[in-house]
Amino acid sequence: MVNAKKSYHVAVVGATGAVGAELLRVLERRGFPVERLRPLCSQRSAGTTVSFRGEEIPATELSAASFEGIDLAFFSAGEISRKFAPLARDAGAVVIDNSSVFRMEPDVPLVIPEINGDDIRQHRGLIANPNCTTAVALMALYPLHRAFGVRRVVASSYQAVSGSGTRAINELRSQVEAAAEKRPPAAEIYPHPIAFNVLPHVDSFLPSGYTREEMKMQNEGRRIMHLPEFRASVTCVRVPVYRAHSVAVSAEFERAVSVEEAHEVLAKAPGLELVDEPQNNRYPMPLFTAGKDNCEVGRVRRDCAFENGLAFWVSGDQLLKGAALNAVQIAELL
Ligand SMILES: NC(=O)c1ccc[n+]([C@@H]2O[C@H](COP(=O)([O-])OP(=O)(O)OC[C@H]3O[C@@H](n4cnc5c(N)ncnc54)[C@H](OP(=O)(O)O)[C@@H]3O)[C@@H](O)[C@H]2O)c1
Repeated sequence: MVNAKKSYHVAVVGATGAVGAELLRVLERRGFPVERLRPLCSQRSAGTTVSFRGEEIPATELSAASFEGIDLAFFSAGEISRKFAPLARDAGAVVIDNSSVFRMEPDVPLVIPEINGDDIRQHRGLIANPNCTTAVALMALYPLHRAFGVRRVVASSYQAVSGSGTRAINELRSQVEAAAEKRPPAAEIYPHPIAFNVLPHVDSFLPSGYTREEMKMQNEGRRIMHLPEFRASVTCVRVPVYRAHSVAVSAEFERAVSVEEAHEVLAKAPGLELVDEPQNNRYPMPLFTAGKDNCEVGRVRRDCAFENGLAFWVSGDQLLKGAALNAVQIAELL
C-alpha cells in the first residue's frame, strides 16, 4: 500500500501526452490529495508547462533521479515504463502503469476497480492498468458474466484516434482539413489515411493473423475476470472518431439469458449506464460518451448465432475509463 498520509507527492510520466493531460484533469476533478506534482516528459517537451489546480507547472525530462521523494508515480509514456517503472518502485514510489509492458506479469495486478479491485492487495509496488478497448468491453461483459457465466465472445472494436496519442489526433484533424481543401492526405502515424476511412489494423500483426491489440481482450480479460478459459475472437478497427472507443460484442453464456434479465443486471452495474431505446434512436455513441466517466451499453438483443447468446454495443471514453480515470481509481483504492 502507499503509506497512509494526508497528501502525496505524485509524479506523472508522460504528463504532456493525451493520457497524461487527462490524468492531471482527473486528479484535480476528483480532489485527489496531491501535495506536490512532478510532471515528467521526454527531452522534446521539457520546459513546457502543464496546468494543475490553476498553476502552470513546467514538465521536466525523465531521468533515473526523477522519483526521489515520490509516493505515487503514474506512467503513461509507452515502452519507457520497462526501464523507469522499476526505478520508480525501487525509489519507494507505488507505480500505476498505463503501458502494456507489465500487464501479463503474474506478480503485477491488472486492475479495473469495479471488477477486481481486491487484486490490488497483492501488489508489490507496481500495478498495471488494462488495455483501453478491453476495459470498455469488460465494464459491460463482466456484470453479465457474474450473472450468467461467460464462455466466449466475438467482438469488433471501433477505436478513436486519441487511443494512439496526441499526434494521431493531429493527423486526423489535418487530414480532414486537407480533404476540405482538396489536398491529398498525408499519413504518418497510421499506414493509410484515417479521415473518411476505417483501418482494420490496430497494433502490430502476430503470426496467427490477429494483432497484439486484438489478443488483449482474451489475455487481459482472463486475468481481470479470473477466468482462465475465457476466449475472445476480436477484430480491432481504427475509425475517424476523435475520442471514445466502441465495441460490438456477441457473447455466449453458460446459463440461459433473456434481454430483460440482462437489462436488469446492466442497469445496476457500477460505472455503466444502460442506454437502450432503439425505437427512439437512443443507443451509446462515442460523440456522447467522450468526456464521460461512465461507459454506456445498449443494443442488447438475443444473439441469433450463439447458444445462450447476447449481442450488445458498449461505448466509453478510453482516455478516461481506459486510462486516466481507471488509474486514479486504482490510486484511490490504494
Ligand atoms: N491514448 C489512450 O487512449 C491510451 C489508453 C490506454 C493506455 N494508453 C497508454 O498510455 C501511454 C501514453 O499514451 P498517449 O496516448 O498519452 O501518448 P502521447 O499522447 O503520444 O503521449 C506520450 C507521452 O509520453 C512522453 N514520452 C514519450 N517518450 C518518452 C521518453 N522516452 N521519456 C519520457 N517521456 C516520454 C511524451 O513526452 P513528450 O511530450 O516529451 O514527447 C508524452 O508526454 C502509452 O503507453 C499508451 O499505450 C493510452
